[in-house]
Amino acid sequence: MVTSETLSADTTAAQDLGEPKMRATDVSVFYGDKKAIDNVSIDIRTEHVTAFIGPSGCGKSTFLRTLNRMNDTISSARVEGVIELDGEDIYQSGMDVVQLRARVGMVFQKPNPFPKSIYENIAYGPRIHGLAEGKSEMDAIVERSLKRAGLWDEVKDRLDDSGTALSGGQQQRLCIARAIAVDPEVILMDEPCSALDPIATAKIEELIDELRGRYAIVIVTHSMQQAARVSQRTAFFHLGNLVEYGHTSDIFTNPREKRTQDYITGRYG
Ligand SMILES: Nc1ncnc2c1ncn2[C@@H]1O[C@H](COP(=O)(O)OP(=O)(O)OP(=O)(O)O)[C@@H](O)[C@H]1O
Ligand SMILES: [Mg+2]
Repeated sequence: MVTSETLSADTTAAQDLGEPKMRATDVSVFYGDKKAIDNVSIDIRTEHVTAFIGPSGCGKSTFLRTLNRMNDTISSARVEGVIELDGEDIYQSGMDVVQLRARVGMVFQKPNPFPKSIYENIAYGPRIHGLAEGKSEMDAIVERSLKRAGLWDEVKDRLDDSGTALSGGQQQRLCIARAIAVDPEVILMDEPCSALDPIATAKIEELIDELRGRYAIVIVTHSMQQAARVSQRTAFFHLGNLVEYGHTSDIFTNPREKRTQDYITGRYG
């Protein structure tokens, strides 16, 4: 188990970067009586892509969902501990959850574009959040978001086509563009490439690298290669515990914990 000493020791080198974008302190998550996450503390920084790895059922998605309160939609789920965004407790009463989910966007395993035009997929969020004054401002947001998501050139001549008519990889980039359109601070991605072929996967990985530094990015992945390629920090979860968290290169070449070593060498999971 990671203690707060080891976590802060690990982040000393990063201390001059200032406060983390998100901080979880002693977070536990229950489904009914069953504890799925046990006392997890972690800092998430804009400067790094953070990968969550670990065997199936260890709680990666559960913990990820606590970061933008997506677990609120699961009636049996209960969260203990504190999660802060820029120092503000996101579970405090009075928190505007719709606003929170714009600040902390999410991209799911299966691309889920709205059954609407490509343009409307992007424009929907900015419209409900009142981010554009008129049509030309909205056009600019749509173009900028699609460009940032590396999709503009492929769709600029067919913005009125349905988002669902795109290929899987394009749909996933559309979903990333949709998350970007509302100007988020954090983007959570839960196995965003698991339904994609290697070429589409490579495009998403390139995109994640380009977005790093602009948004705090957390990616859940079952692929160690992917974690090694895209992340600078890796958190290894096992049976609801955060076993080890540190520099990705250290986790993969010189893990401190035997359970991490066993996982990355394919002994279980
Ligand atoms: N909606 C739910 N209701 C009850 N239990 C749940 C629910 N979602 C997850 N769990 C349980 O919580 C634990 C963690 O599940 P979670 O989906 O977070 O794991 P995971 O690490 O994301 O796994 P995978 O790699 O397979 O996606 C598991 O034991 C799972 O059965
Ligand atoms: Mg999962």
